[in-house]
Amino acid sequence: MEMSAGAASFSVFDGLKATKSPCAITNFECRRQSQLISLPCVKAVSAPLKPPTAVPVKRSKVEIIKEQSNYLRFPLNEELETEAPNINEAAVQLIKFHGSYQQYNRDERGGKSYSFMLRTKQPSGKVPNKLYLVMDQLADQFGIGTLRLTTRQTFQLHGVLKHNLKTVLSTIIKNMGSTLGACGDLNRNVLAPPFPFARKDYIFAQETADKIAALLAPQAGSYYDLWVDGEKIMSADPPDVVEALKDNSHGTNFEGSPEPIYGTQFLPRKFKVAVTVPTDNSVDILTNDIGLVVICDDEGNPKGFDIYVGGGMGRTHRMEHTFPKLAEPLGYVPKEDILYVIKAIVATQRDYGRRDDRRMARMKYLVHEWGIDKFRTVVEQYYGKQIEPFQELPPWEFKSYLGWHEQGNGEHFYGVHVENGRLKDTSKKVLREIIEKFNLSIRLTPNQNLILCDVRSSWMQEISRSLRQGGLLHPRWVDSLNITSMACPALPLCPLAVTEAERGAPDILRRIRKMFDKVGLRTSDSLVIRFTGCPNGCARPYMAELGFVGDGPNSYQIWLGGAPNQSRLAQTFMEKVKLQDFEMILTPLFRAWKLRRMAGEPFGDFAIRVFVFSP
Ligand code: HEM
Ligand code: SF4
Repeated sequence: MEMSAGAASFSVFDGLKATKSPCAITNFECRRQSQLISLPCVKAVSAPLKPPTAVPVKRSKVEIIKEQSNYLRFPLNEELETEAPNINEAAVQLIKFHGSYQQYNRDERGGKSYSFMLRTKQPSGKVPNKLYLVMDQLADQFGIGTLRLTTRQTFQLHGVLKHNLKTVLSTIIKNMGSTLGACGDLNRNVLAPPFPFARKDYIFAQETADKIAALLAPQAGSYYDLWVDGEKIMSADPPDVVEALKDNSHGTNFEGSPEPIYGTQFLPRKFKVAVTVPTDNSVDILTNDIGLVVICDDEGNPKGFDIYVGGGMGRTHRMEHTFPKLAEPLGYVPKEDILYVIKAIVATQRDYGRRDDRRMARMKYLVHEWGIDKFRTVVEQYYGKQIEPFQELPPWEFKSYLGWHEQGNGEHFYGVHVENGRLKDTSKKVLREIIEKFNLSIRLTPNQNLILCDVRSSWMQEISRSLRQGGLLHPRWVDSLNITSMACPALPLCPLAVTEAERGAPDILRRIRKMFDKVGLRTSDSLVIRFTGCPNGCARPYMAELGFVGDGPNSYQIWLGGAPNQSRLAQTFMEKVKLQDFEMILTPLFRAWKLRRMAGEPFGDFAIRVFVFSP
């Protein structure tokens, strides 16, 4: 295993092409440093060191696969060459880092028909016109004919056969797209509010998302070797990113390694970053490993960031030591330092996150185990400075910006509601025609919707008409329950799904609307409902006012009490509720809300007050 410049170990793995890093410190220094880590506040910060381990620590199987992979190449390269329709277990783990999951259709009986899901990566969900058209075409030509917009501002293409992977991936790369790091144990797509407002804080949040994505992208080149025969098809990183990437003043880097931040082991688990501006919680900021909020001075110029750390959704049924967690305030840093503090947080998770048990490997468990003060102390050692106190923020609001809006530069944008992010048939065709005809650029939202940007006033009428004809109705004509609801793809392609989510959601929403009618709730009454086919939480159900989490065939855990602005975790209300029993369980809850809510009280607040904490 590679060791960072400041880290101490007595067995340094010399992975296939990994560089051997010198162990530059003594035992005494290690001990001194580990004592420093337990101090509540850093007075004089110095290069952080990981305490020495006398006994070799148990590591999960995936850690060994990463270590022996020659930076994500072996045995993926070899497995892609075989005639088999699938790849072996080690290659399955590695291809995730390249942005793909191996899947098979669980609806089909008999032998497994393997295919691959590809996920793109585009910070802030920005999609150039040409890339959109290419993705649309690839879905028809090599996928199952649908384009899926995800909860992390990316596209998913399902159903790509192994022998087409290289064609599809190289086409995406050559059209300025990427799938590198869309899955796997590294930084995933960086979220930011996608809205094309000509506002300094929004633009700055989006630029920061781009820079963080560049800073934390894998550097060792296997992606380009595998998919475009070593061609380096990418634009140069901005100078401040290059400088921050190289900087090793405080022991964040593996000196001389092709992978200076990640080393041979990458991170213990996936890592998620979101950037936003005060009040705009379109990104579900508190569900991320790192959440940044742009802070502006009195003239509206960005001056720094508030930082949250340690959010995450995934959990496992019947394992109470796994849990969803909201990110906690870490502090404030000036804008010049943001890339350095991001590196410091990543290095902390890299060096101290658990690598023995993948269920416990997310940074949320480290923050939980240490507490935020100790976590901050260790981050400060890698950062080399003290983190300033968190600045007070106004309340969060959920912003979807569906329908028409002015951009602030004379042009308009239109937020298109796409049910569960699935573009198919007429809706897909019509969108393509509009995007092609008006040469529009696109942004994907963190809520499975899509934004048409830079629309001139004279085009608006025609675009509205075409969307309507394609079944993409103005949000005014869509049930408010559907507008805010999300479901993960689950069956038939997700291997971890225990029941339906996306395919079942529309019917369940119709049933809930009927229950509303029955108890006398109005059409304007609504709540945030999210569905997943298993407890991993891919549609962030633990932030919903009403969350359905699959816990068996046609059976769900019910979570209640998230807030409409996604600022509070929901809590488990009931388990193993069968699909056919929803009316029996839910109607009384809705009736109680109708009869006993306080003025304007959202369902989630009511549920926390009345159902979840009541004896
Ligand atoms: C084979 C395994 C998996 C597949 C196929 C998968 C698929 C997906 C998909 C499709 C999305 C986008 C969801 C959407 O738009 O509906 C997503 C997002 C997400 N996934 Fe997974 N996932 C897998 C494993 C996991 C695991 C093991 C966890 C957690 C333990 C997890 C947690 C999440 C979360 C929290 C999101 C929400 C997006 C975000 O805010 O980051 N996933 N995943
Ligand atoms: S929540 Fe579970 S079922 Fe849904 S996509 Fe994620 S892993 Fe699959």
